[in-house]
Amino acid sequence: MKKVGRNDPCPCGSGLKYKKCCMLKDQQRESFRRLKEIYFKRYGIRLKDREDIEKIKEAGKLVVKTLELVEELIKPGIKTEEIDKFVYEFTIKNNAYPAPLNYNGFPKSVCVSVNEEVCHGIPGDRVLKEGDIVNVDVTTKLNGYYADASKTFCVGEVSEEAKRLVKIAKECLKKGIEQVAPGKTIGDIGWAIQRHAERNGCSVVREMVGHGVGFEFHEPPQVPHFGKKGHGIILVPGMVFTIEPMINLGGREIKILPDKWTVVTKDGSLSAQFEQTVAVTTRGCEILTPYEL
Ligand code: MF3
Ligand code: CO
Ligand code: CO
Repeated sequence: MKKVGRNDPCPCGSGLKYKKCCMLKDQQRESFRRLKEIYFKRYGIRLKDREDIEKIKEAGKLVVKTLELVEELIKPGIKTEEIDKFVYEFTIKNNAYPAPLNYNGFPKSVCVSVNEEVCHGIPGDRVLKEGDIVNVDVTTKLNGYYADASKTFCVGEVSEEAKRLVKIAKECLKKGIEQVAPGKTIGDIGWAIQRHAERNGCSVVREMVGHGVGFEFHEPPQVPHFGKKGHGIILVPGMVFTIEPMINLGGREIKILPDKWTVVTKDGSLSAQFEQTVAVTTRGCEILTPYEL
């Protein structure tokens, strides 16, 4: 097959010269194809095209809707397993699947982490009480695509220090997202988050990181919430990943409870987390699980 010359008639049949018609689009498609190959070979990262991103966005809309409805449920006296029941039923009703359920043996449909629990809390008969802070982490699989987001809610009135922690954790996510654009690096994201947390006397959990998401629940790359400017993989259009900083009021050290899932702060201090799924685009960043930060 002969290559189409720039001055040849466009193969699409428009009658225009190739250079005035499909040439640029074809070149862009070809360079994205090469980039996909390189990122997969080098890092195991599967870049997403526009159609994939639209599908992840659809799953993301359902995640955000779920979080909105969960927020209405959160009151003193509610059991964490009632949140799980709601998430399971709402997700199934919307022809989707709650990704945590049976994931590596996780027994419930959503992670609910209270106070000193950092993440991966298992819903159960614990009753939320006034003054608690509670993270609800929802991951939904819709039409084969995953989106992942979480929020930390305050139960009734909470202490000033709890309020401050929740605010800083939310700002940390915002600062991380602000770094996302082609040409920036994974390290830039962690750097911005760590700086904001530590400037405010808080600490960043190291062991749990953000992650690629979309085709699977957890894909490469890892996205640490600490790091150095300019370090790590260069962000390119088509990368889709989560940013989900876990911020502690005390030390950054954690331990895992005997249930083998619940991660808690070692010193028992409060921990808060916010998570979004984001896509790197040619123009910058698109949030696929949008809620106000
Ligand atoms: N949703 C969590 C995350 O942000 C992962 C939970 S894994 C589970 O990556 F098994 F605990 F559900
Ligand atoms: Co999550
Ligand atoms: Co996640």
